[in-house]
Amino acid sequence: MSITVRAAAKINLHLGVGRAREDGFHPLDTVYQAIGIHDDLTLTAAEGLSLDTLVADHIDPAGVPSGADNIVLRAARLLAQHAGRPAAGAFEVRKDIPVAGGMAGGSADAAAALVACDRLWDLETPDDVLLALAAELGSDIPFSLVGGTARGVGRGEVVTPVDDRGSWWWVAVPSPEGLSTPMVYRHFDTLRPDATEVPASAEPLLAALATGEPLQLARALHNDLQEPAIDLRPELGDLIVRGESEGALRGLVSGSGPTVVFLCDSADGARATAVGLAGAGHDVVLTATGPVAGAHVLA
Ligand code: C5P
Repeated sequence: MSITVRAAAKINLHLGVGRAREDGFHPLDTVYQAIGIHDDLTLTAAEGLSLDTLVADHIDPAGVPSGADNIVLRAARLLAQHAGRPAAGAFEVRKDIPVAGGMAGGSADAAAALVACDRLWDLETPDDVLLALAAELGSDIPFSLVGGTARGVGRGEVVTPVDDRGSWWWVAVPSPEGLSTPMVYRHFDTLRPDATEVPASAEPLLAALATGEPLQLARALHNDLQEPAIDLRPELGDLIVRGESEGALRGLVSGSGPTVVFLCDSADGARATAVGLAGAGHDVVLTATGPVAGAHVLA
């Protein structure tokens, strides 16, 4: 018996970051959107616990964390422990989401693992319990369960869905080498010693989203981690300028980076931007729309 769960990449349309809390995490006011770049996780009944990862051509397999501390196996063990049963099953993850790219690839896999284990083990875990377990595993994982477009507060784990009638076109350009999220947050602390306790509000972004107008949304996109990410990787700034000159409405670092995403006005706009960026020497250029669903079982 086996079950396959699909989970999407996320981008942050707004990422307001406040001064680090006592526990080291930063208070956030963020708006997530799930976009159509996916990882698919298949869980097959087995005696022990195992994990096999297959990566798309654009992903370097060396960058994928393996071993017992992989987030997929941690998710399986956490749910098993909660349910008072052994953690057992063979996982196969097919990765298309850039690794260490600021698109919550690991979080998507963890969310998919929670959903797959819940189904295969016949647990019928209530949604609020699954969300709490997800939050224990990582700040972005509750959103990976919920999907769509949602506001996140706390350290990003307290998620409320947002009404989003738009269908937005994105071009995503991953970097060959990932960027460490804790490093980018630490660099934010260095560059912004004056950061306030309360993060920049997501309200203006939400108002822009409600207009359904790509140009309005483009103007409202905001990411407090963009400055530290570009300071660590100056080429990301050049990439943003280039994509905007190829027709994108706006380029933005995705989460803690280094993936850069471009909002475009239409499917044609996205294609033109993607072709322009490929012509400028970017080997991997992905096109996607959002919002899409959170972690869900494939029929
Ligand atoms: O929660 P998660 O494990 O995804 O976080 C990874 C790291 O990112 C944390 O250890 C922390 O350094 C940083 N982080 C943060 N503030 C947040 C979320 C993450 O400082 N709100």
